[in-house]
Amino acid sequence: MGNTSNKVAWLVFAIMAIGVGLYPLMYAVVDGKYGLLFSKSDELLESVIWNIGFYGHISFGGLALLTGWAQFSKKLRSNYLNIHRNLGKFYVICALISGVCGIGISFFATGGWIAALGFFCLGIFWVFTTSKAYLAIRSKDVALHEGMMIYSYAACFGAVTLRIWLPLLTIAFGEFIIAYRIVAWLAWVPNVIFAYFWVRKRGILLG
Ligand code: HEM
Repeated sequence: MGNTSNKVAWLVFAIMAIGVGLYPLMYAVVDGKYGLLFSKSDELLESVIWNIGFYGHISFGGLALLTGWAQFSKKLRSNYLNIHRNLGKFYVICALISGVCGIGISFFATGGWIAALGFFCLGIFWVFTTSKAYLAIRSKDVALHEGMMIYSYAACFGAVTLRIWLPLLTIAFGEFIIAYRIVAWLAWVPNVIFAYFWVRKRGILLG
């Protein structure tokens, strides 16, 4: 029974990560404007810097989400350590590029400073925990590496939880902008709290 629910949880986790990981493709597939671009001014849409930031963010963010979840498989780590290492380096590069771009475009977020600050803090947290996790494993500190990667992917998974919360909040408040300001925080703060208890449950002491 425990085993079955564990498998179901894994399947749901993987499907959500893959589903939202592929979502940025919509911006390439759809002709003309799509999604968030409708809420942006023509001036911003013409900015080369913002476009580099935006497309850099969503493409590498998608790749980070697509690869990161598999790294938590114990089987992968114990039987195919090489794959874990290579996939891990790929995740770190993608997360850092997407995170830095995300921090850059956070200043132009729809919904003003409350939304901007939420995304900015998420970006700082993602870049910090990912770098720390990488540096930890370079110095062979497995516990710190594992703990920081749990935090890093909890931040990354904010892209998934955002897309669960946003429609619910939009219905609850009957307005998109208020929902968007809230979701810039609600998308990731509960994930980080969840990660904190997960890290504690695994008996990992950080610091
Ligand atoms: C974890 C750190 C992340 C930060 C700090 C972040 C930040 C941002 C920011 C600031 C925006 C623009 C919001 C606006 O202009 O109103 C945005 C949009 C977007 N982000 Fe992220 N993001 C993160 C993770 C991810 C990941 C992992 C993905 C992968 C799927 C992703 C995919 C997208 C997409 C597709 C959009 C366009 C909006 C939409 O179509 O829903 N983000 N993000």
